[in-house]
Parts: sequence; C-alpha cells; structure tokens
Amino acid sequence: MDQNRNVVLFIASSLDGYIATKDESLEWLFKVEGEGDNGFSEFYDTVDTVLMGKKTYDWIMRHMDEFPYKNKECFVFTRSMIKDTENAKFVSVEITNFVNKLKSQHGKKIWIVGGGRLLNSFIQENLVDEFIITVAPTILGEGIPLFIEGDYQLDLSLKGTRNFNQFVELHYERKH
Ligand SMILES: NC(=O)c1ccc[n+]([C@@H]2O[C@H](COP(=O)([O-])OP(=O)(O)OC[C@H]3O[C@@H](n4cnc5c(N)ncnc54)[C@H](OP(=O)(O)O)[C@@H]3O)[C@@H](O)[C@H]2O)c1
Repeated sequence: MDQNRNVVLFIASSLDGYIATKDESLEWLFKVEGEGDNGFSEFYDTVDTVLMGKKTYDWIMRHMDEFPYKNKECFVFTRSMIKDTENAKFVSVEITNFVNKLKSQHGKKIWIVGGGRLLNSFIQENLVDEFIITVAPTILGEGIPLFIEGDYQLDLSLKGTRNFNQFVELHYERKH
C-alpha cells in the first residue's frame, strides 16, 4: 500500500465538539476571525480523493453555487441507490473494503470531510489515519456531534498544533 495514502479527517469543530448546530447552521464558524484560509489550501493540495456522508453532500448542494471539489475524485456514502453526477459518485458498499481498495491504489491522501455519522462508521472500522481538527472559540451547547458515543477507544499521538488567529489546529496520528 502507498504509505502516503492516509485517510485524513480535516474538519472544524466547536470547542465542545460540534460540527454544526442542530439546524445545520455553520454561521458560528464563518464568523470566527481566522488567518488566510486557515491551512485549507495547503491541506487540499495533499489530497486527490474526497469522502463525505450524504448529509454533508446535501448541505453543500443547498449552500454552495458551485460544487467545491470538482478537481478531486469525490465519493458520497449513502445507503440509498443514487445515480452518480459529474462531480460525485454515490457509494453504498461496505466501507472497509472500499477504503482499503482506494488505499491500495497509487495516489495522494484521502480526505474524509465528515460529517459525524460517516466519521463514526470510519472510526468503528479503524479507518482514519490522521485527525486534523480546527477548533473554533465557540461553545455551542448542542448540535451535530463530531464524535458519536460508541464502544471504541482510539489512542493517538500529537503531530503538531498551529493557530490561525482565533482557531487552533490540532493534528493527531493514530497509533498503530
Ligand atoms: N464543521 C465542519 O467542518 C463540517 C464538516 C463536514 C460536515 N459538517 C456538517 O455536518 C452535518 C452533517 O453531518 P451528519 O453527521 O449529520 O451526517 P453525515 O455523516 O454527513 O451523513 C450521514 C449520512 O451518510 C450516510 N452514511 C453514514 N455512514 C454510512 C455507511 N457506513 N455506509 C453508507 N452510508 C453511510 C447515510 O446516508 P443515507 O441516510 O443517505 O443512507 C447517513 O445518513 C452537516 O450540517 C454539515 O454541514 C460540518
């Protein structure tokens, strides 16, 4: 397998671990004063494949004029049968085989965009190699959780921290 073909979570979270409000708003995130693009384009250059859950895809389709990941191979996980579009392929097969197949092909890193529910499936199967979490200085109290309660424990090692003005980026690697 290509050693660099890690599956990487790159996501923004509130300080109390939510990725959106209950009604799927990200306004709390967009109003935080960061710095430049908060490391996004630097990270984006390291990936060639983008994975997301269907709810995240729906959010993008509702809020963005143009699909943001046109120049990458994009897979959307769903348990429904949905016809592929020019920008996204819909995947309803078992995730472990799918991801291992991707990792066995030569390429750059694989970005798991989220949301929490897809991430939970990946964590349960131990499929995430790196976690880059950009923490906003916001406590939401309730919302859509980044991590869902479950019967798992992941031991990570800290690779680095950076701050982008009001944001703090935490970069962890899974211990093998
Ligand atoms: N803060 C951030 O940086 C950030 C990043 C990403 C997303 N978000 C936000 O997160 C919210 C969505 O997160 P979410 O946790 O509710 O949903 P999600 O993980 O984006 O999507 C959940 C859906 O993905 C599919 N899915 C999940 N696990 C699967 C598996 N093992 N196999 C096949 N399909 C699977 C199912 O689709 P079906 O129901 O179609 O079967 C499930 O309902 C959105 O509001 C989005 O804006 C925030």
